[in-house]
Amino acid sequence: MEKLLQLIGESISQHKVRQIILSKVRKKDEEAFQKVIIKPVNIKGQVMYQFCYQYPKKVSHINLEGLKAIDACAELVQDYFRQVNIFTTEADYQGMISKKGKVHLQKKPPTCQEIDTAHNRTKHYLLSEDTPYDFLVKLGVMNKEGKVLAQRYDKFKQLNRFLEMVADCMAYLPKDRTLHIIDFGCGKSYLTFALYHYLVKQQGLAVKITGLDLKKDVIQFCNKMARELSYEGLTFIHGDIQDFEGEDKVDMVVTLHACDTATDAALAKAVGWEAKVILSVPCCQHELLTQVHHPIMKPMEKHGIIKEKLSSLITDSVRGNILEIMGYSVQMLEFIDMEHTPKNILIRAFKKDNYSQEAVKTYKAFKDFWSIEPYLEKAMGEALASRL
Ligand SMILES: C[S@@+](CC[C@H](N)C(=O)[O-])C[C@H]1O[C@@H](n2cnc3c(N)ncnc32)[C@H](O)[C@@H]1O
Repeated sequence: MEKLLQLIGESISQHKVRQIILSKVRKKDEEAFQKVIIKPVNIKGQVMYQFCYQYPKKVSHINLEGLKAIDACAELVQDYFRQVNIFTTEADYQGMISKKGKVHLQKKPPTCQEIDTAHNRTKHYLLSEDTPYDFLVKLGVMNKEGKVLAQRYDKFKQLNRFLEMVADCMAYLPKDRTLHIIDFGCGKSYLTFALYHYLVKQQGLAVKITGLDLKKDVIQFCNKMARELSYEGLTFIHGDIQDFEGEDKVDMVVTLHACDTATDAALAKAVGWEAKVILSVPCCQHELLTQVHHPIMKPMEKHGIIKEKLSSLITDSVRGNILEIMGYSVQMLEFIDMEHTPKNILIRAFKKDNYSQEAVKTYKAFKDFWSIEPYLEKAMGEALASRL
């Protein structure tokens, strides 16, 4: 069952789903719905999932944002239906669920290949290719006619992908007050400006967005640009993430390729503020490279290139596990196709109220296995230590 739920979660969160059909109800009830068909729909530039509940004499619809759709679909699969058909751009899947909850999953070639993916991609893009957005023109990603410059196309795609992830989180963010967001290690702030554009211009929200970076000249440039664009509520501060003070309420923390342990410092700050949403794409990871060791893993440790990848994966696994212990529900998502960047994991975390002892047990065993002392554990301080 876990594999099936994971498949549903990944297909929806990575926007690969074309249709999901849930059928063969477990308990016969002539009044209840007999089938549910789920499809992606584009509502005001945002991808939502339409659930069509088919009753014997009527149909009813609801539209849910990505993560709510995953939860709702998982509940229907676990409690109501015995057959699940998932049609994605990559494959068709059929899951048959036995009375005892065992799943027999079959995979076949996709039947929705005829979908015009180029058109579909454009449709899903929150920033479209032929619109001259003021900030993208100023940052040299587009020309004044709105054409994306060939050498900046990867950046354009990356920004759109990040905004897609933000769009999926909207249900978890308050909409009745000014949203406070911090972009740690903002650099030239393509993402920070894009976030502002999406939340203020496209979603009509009130925001206070802060970008923070170590580079003074870049911060000056970004503040000047925000003033020129009259982006009120967007400011940039020069400083180090771990020393950043003066905020007591932050709703969302984002990082995009903040170097090495800067990502960890950002995660620790976010957890300290109990940020509702964390979106973090880590960057180069050196910290654990010299620590990671287990005799059995020798074949993976003896080649530098493999050890580097291994320690990166261990670092991100530690991050996910620690966030779980700190009361977050965590997803690891593919950020962008491998061909564009090797730094392609996005950690998406949502604040919930509780945490499980299982997460603590798993973390301790994992840490002992690899003989590591991660920086993130230290950065979390007493809040984490008291749970271990
Ligand atoms: C690879 S760049 C990414 C910039 C930007 N987020 C983007 O994706 O275009 C990493 C940035 O993180 C900043 N940085 C690294 N460590 C930092 C720290 N401890 N505090 C603040 N900024 C940091 C660097 O100055 C750099 O601008």
